[in-house]
Amino acid sequence: MDKLVIEGGISLKGAVTVSGAKNSVLPLLSACLLTNERCRIKNVPNLRDVITMIKILRSLGAYAEYSNGEVIVEAKTIKSHIADYKLVSTMRASFCVLGPLLGRLRKAKVSLPGGCIIGVRPVDLHLKGIKALGAKVEVQAGYAVVEAKGLRGAHIYLGGVFGSSVLATDNVMMAAVLAKGKTVIESAACEPEVVDLANFLNKMGAKIKGQGTPCIEIEGARHLHGTDYHIVPDRIEAGTLILAGAITGGDCLVRGAFKEHLGAVLDKLDEAGVRIEDADGGLRVRPSKKLKPVNVTTLPYPGFPTDMQAQIMSLMSVTPGISIITEKIYPDRFMHVSELNRMGANIMREGPHAIIEGRKSLSGAPVMASDLRASAALVLAGLVAKGKTEISRIYHLDRGYENLEIKLQKLGARIWREKE
Ligand code: UD1
Repeated sequence: MDKLVIEGGISLKGAVTVSGAKNSVLPLLSACLLTNERCRIKNVPNLRDVITMIKILRSLGAYAEYSNGEVIVEAKTIKSHIADYKLVSTMRASFCVLGPLLGRLRKAKVSLPGGCIIGVRPVDLHLKGIKALGAKVEVQAGYAVVEAKGLRGAHIYLGGVFGSSVLATDNVMMAAVLAKGKTVIESAACEPEVVDLANFLNKMGAKIKGQGTPCIEIEGARHLHGTDYHIVPDRIEAGTLILAGAITGGDCLVRGAFKEHLGAVLDKLDEAGVRIEDADGGLRVRPSKKLKPVNVTTLPYPGFPTDMQAQIMSLMSVTPGISIITEKIYPDRFMHVSELNRMGANIMREGPHAIIEGRKSLSGAPVMASDLRASAALVLAGLVAKGKTEISRIYHLDRGYENLEIKLQKLGARIWREKE
């Protein structure tokens, strides 16, 4: 197993480019199952989750190959409609093969992904939407078993207790593109990754309107064809790199950081006093004089993303004053709190709230990554901490950040990977 070692205290300087969006590429790869023709997906980050998705596509009988930032998928025939527990349990996003398998084969058996370290993560909305399209849905021995003679369009309200669901919207959209007639998804997720998937499906011949709004309309098509597609930059990686600049008082150009995807994050950073400017092909973080504490509530897009909650907590840990972070998507997503406290932060958790009393500085320590974004938060804390931080279990980081330590090295950080 690898660990990351960071010697903190350097203000980052220079330019860095954001990779393609993990949360776009995973559902997009599964959407390739909807056609027997060849699809070429470009700007694909080299991530553990991408490799897992490729393995799943192969296990279903599709050709799938990654090379130099591109994935070619050709699902001429699909020999299995079963996505196995061993693969699905390692990555929740693999549950989004359910919609495409059902659309293409009219049947699918996909392992239920279960919960994970960030909390209970049900799939009731996925199944509700699939059922509304006319499929018979059963849960048998840990699998979702779905079957339909013919899918028909329907009017579906897809909101849940925590608001909209990204992958449920993706799954239902992917099943509906080959259904007969019109489907309307109300309370659809508006995330840019959902828009990316809808745009890809439209390039394949689907007829989807309203992506990016809470009401998506899909006119069923008889057939989808192969296409090429370029994935959008990863807004969460962009936000994380911007915070790396901000937390170290650096001056960094983050190429591929799209302002329009980062509205809520930029608004909070502005309130905190972080100076960010439009720059050539991205955003530039400038050294800020004095940072101010802020209160943050995570919400579905366009609200503040839960996937940036841990990282902004690191920034608030070194911003004198009291900040309150409220987690409204995954109320238990606070595994990073105790690790940040081991580095000298002063954070108290109270239900879905974290109360942070910002310190002047943190001190390096051995810490353990618990999940993807928590790992990123520890990296940020390590960059600003005095002394040496060693982050173990960074396989979590490798699931979703492509070469993060190399990108940070380019900005001048003293960060490297070692074998544990
Ligand atoms: C996606 C992202 C993940 C991000 C999350 C929230 C991908 C691959 N992953 O995950 O990085 O943290 O969105 O922005 O895109 N829920 C239900 N029933 C369901 C489905 C979800 O109650 O059937 C709840 C969840 O428990 C959560 C909320 O809805 O509280 C939002 O989750 P959802 O948008 O579905 O997350 P994912 O799509 O799994």
